[in-house]
Amino acid sequence: MKKIIIAVDGFSSCGKSTMAKALARSVGYLYFDSGAMYRAVALFCLENGLVQGETIAVEELREKMPQIRITFEADPETKNSITFLNGKNVESEIRSLRVSRIVSQVAALDFVRTDMIAQQREMGKAKGIVMDGRDIGTTVFPDAEMKVFVTASAEVRAQRRYDELTARGDNPNFQEILENVLQRDHIDQTREVSPLRKADDAILLDNSNMTREEQQEWLCEKFKEITAE
Ligand code: DC
Repeated sequence: MKKIIIAVDGFSSCGKSTMAKALARSVGYLYFDSGAMYRAVALFCLENGLVQGETIAVEELREKMPQIRITFEADPETKNSITFLNGKNVESEIRSLRVSRIVSQVAALDFVRTDMIAQQREMGKAKGIVMDGRDIGTTVFPDAEMKVFVTASAEVRAQRRYDELTARGDNPNFQEILENVLQRDHIDQTREVSPLRKADDAILLDNSNMTREEQQEWLCEKFKEITAE
């Protein structure tokens, strides 16, 4: 069977990663979380004194970009992908609210995107990958054979993020999360470089009222159709 690239784009917290991971596992592809890469850069900024209040020291970050190395490894037990920043496992830290608060600003910087996109294309060279993000089907892999654009209402997405943070022992505030979701939607859709938008040839998936199983079945069916062509 021919190997393809599966690009999964969409709004924040709409279950893209869970969905993309499950799809990768069931079709035997490698999974890459491009958002984790922007999150790792944001964490680097926080850890290196490049954030004042909620403002990024852009020129200092530009200078320090060559020092940032992001890699992924599969967890030997769960097979889930783990993000490493300069050799350190940062998978949990990059999901914190302090990173979420600044990540959209980091992801809007052209030199950050150029660097990340080059790394992402390298990851897709041999095909057989599922990558999720915001611009995978539009900019990173415009020729991807399967493109999915996922969405869900802002409230449903905030509730999912709230549940995720609660499950890991945090004590989140729903309103704060909802505001963060809306603010990130706005920044992601209106930024100058690679704004979030559905590629013309992407399949739209609104999962507000879908179970994970329904979603999975739907995707596997699409995958079969595309790879059989
Ligand atoms: O999917 P996520 O919430 O982990 O993404 C984190 C941030 O990175 C979010 O603000 C959107 C941005 N992002 C992006 O601009 N391009 C991507 N390919 C992936 C994520």
